[in-house]
Amino acid sequence: MEQVHIGMLGGGTVGSGVYHHWRRNGALMAARLGLRLQLSRVAVKALDEPRPYEIPRAVLTTDWKAVVHDPQVQVVVELVGGTTVARTMVLEALRCGKPVVTANKALLATHGEELFAAAHRAGVNLYYEASVAGGIPIIKTLREAFVGNRITHLYGIVNGTCNYILSRMKQEGADFAEVLAEAQRLGYAETPPDLDVDGDDARHKTGILASLAHGFWVRPEHIHVEGIRQVSRLDMQFAGQLGYTIKLLGIVKQLPPARGRSARAARGLRLQVSVYPALVPNTHVLASVQGVFNAVFVRGDVVGDTLFYGRGAGKDATASAVLSDLADAALDLAHGSARRVPAFVAHENHGTVVPLGEVSSRYYVRLSVVDRPGVIAQISAILGAARIGIASIIQPEGHEGEVVPLILMIHDAPNAVMDRALARIARLPVVKAPPVRFRVESLE
Ligand code: HSE
Repeated sequence: MEQVHIGMLGGGTVGSGVYHHWRRNGALMAARLGLRLQLSRVAVKALDEPRPYEIPRAVLTTDWKAVVHDPQVQVVVELVGGTTVARTMVLEALRCGKPVVTANKALLATHGEELFAAAHRAGVNLYYEASVAGGIPIIKTLREAFVGNRITHLYGIVNGTCNYILSRMKQEGADFAEVLAEAQRLGYAETPPDLDVDGDDARHKTGILASLAHGFWVRPEHIHVEGIRQVSRLDMQFAGQLGYTIKLLGIVKQLPPARGRSARAARGLRLQVSVYPALVPNTHVLASVQGVFNAVFVRGDVVGDTLFYGRGAGKDATASAVLSDLADAALDLAHGSARRVPAFVAHENHGTVVPLGEVSSRYYVRLSVVDRPGVIAQISAILGAARIGIASIIQPEGHEGEVVPLILMIHDAPNAVMDRALARIARLPVVKAPPVRFRVESLE
């Protein structure tokens, strides 16, 4: 049987998972593919570092260049993470004309354009299923299964740590800091947790999905990001009373064409690409995604609504995605079909990421106000002057003169208009704390 030799860079959590599951299921894969993957060399930082699964000493080396340049190695897998050495490794492998498989979302989000151009020049593919949502085959789905669709909406729960924290806050009525501390103790959240809870990890994944779905490179700095630190137990409770759950969403939405003949209107596709905690209706399946699980909801103009669910991280789920890419890379090599499913191709209509200020959203707003006659009138006067409509108001019964929460559900309004109105509301003497605002995504 034909063999395809793989060189792996990185033998940590994901790398050792790939090696372990390749050993377990390699024969099954060979039977399915009609060729055998040979994971013959693994470059690691230190030979003796502890690994979740063992890798035989005989295949280990500390010299990554020796693996990339080994004439027997036909496909290179990069699993070292980071954006510096990993970038050099991937570029070097591509320069040698070798297809590359990577799980590295930060690398793709920051240097994707350069790396895909290098892959194109080399006439090989760069495979990246494991970079977004771990074991969920969302890259292959967007690239292959939905090739006949325009993707009008994509909503992703793509950060397991945040989803775990928000799920527990809802279930237990607990505060963010409390749940975060326990998640760190149990090893579900990193220390420091910033990359996850401040939304950067979700930003990388959402940028990759947006770029793939819409065929132009969405840079991380063009994605509006808000993390989950500002979500409080109180907001989770009020959202629940209103029939919603708060989830950190990666959002990619096709917006209506711009009005008028502005330059932007002429440039075609307009996209919202953002990451923020949003109220999701409890009746929508995304609201039921609990714990560390990920889910991606995709609406195509042909297929309609679809949902993909699974483990978004971890040595086993991520290894499943890497093995799938290895199978594709090996088949493409064996059959001379590297361009069968191009990794990333620019669409003919170049698009624009519209600044969030120009995008309209619905909102949940929580104010801390003095319970006194005329307070609601002052607030609604500011909103009315900005042509912002109130959909509903809740104020739990309190005592006159006390500071009480006032919850407003707001109809569609542009984010910049809403920001200005909230800044004016915050300056009212009866408003005693900075307003809390979350967007509402009805997913209709
Ligand atoms: N830290 C990520 C998460 C997993 O919590 O989902 C790796 O992408």
